[in-house]
Amino acid sequence: MKNGMISVALPKGRLGEKVYGMFASAGFPCDEILEDTRKLIFENPLCGIRYFWVKPSDVAIYVERGAADIGVAGKDILLEYQPDVYELLDLECGKCRMAIAGPAGFRDDGLTTLRVATKFANITRNYYSALGRDIDIIHLNGSIEIAPILGLSDVIVDIVETGTTLRENNLSVLETIVPISARLISNKAAYKFGKDRIEAIVKGLERVK
Ligand code: PRP
Repeated sequence: MKNGMISVALPKGRLGEKVYGMFASAGFPCDEILEDTRKLIFENPLCGIRYFWVKPSDVAIYVERGAADIGVAGKDILLEYQPDVYELLDLECGKCRMAIAGPAGFRDDGLTTLRVATKFANITRNYYSALGRDIDIIHLNGSIEIAPILGLSDVIVDIVETGTTLRENNLSVLETIVPISARLISNKAAYKFGKDRIEAIVKGLERVK
């Protein structure tokens, strides 16, 4: 908490803009943030808050290491990286699901090692190890849907929101692993020393979510 300001890491992009709208409605506006600039850090000393935009998958790193006091991260990132932070609130937006998908009609016969392409290696490993299923994880960074089409993998584990990406690539959901939504997270020390102020933000967000 620098200069008595609560710093908030927001995920850059459409979800982040929506989440900022929730903070503003909850009583923590910072009008400059909506101006079309390339600036990444914005402050409103009147309500003692500082926002910064970071890559969505990096929010938890900023919060865990205390570069941000609080932040908003997808449950997918929290499950995958297990950062040492408090999860304070389900914001109930950015809703989607983590799912296994494959070519329509694909059936896992369980006989050979299943090849699974994903960005979420830990979620995938945990899911299949609980089933006792032997898999080979192919760790990709994006365009996961292409892997089964090219024969790189049998199935994928990825985020499904509208299902459009799967449909347009002739894939379908075989199994849902876990529902996902945006969560408010807090650095543990920041919560200890700034509990009242962070709880005021939580209460405000609870009211507007
Ligand atoms: C995610 C995910 C899918 C797509 C699913 O990618 O990896 O490709 O969204 O959304 P849909 O069901 O509405 O089609 P994202 O756009 O977040 O980009 P990324 O591949 O860089 O993660």
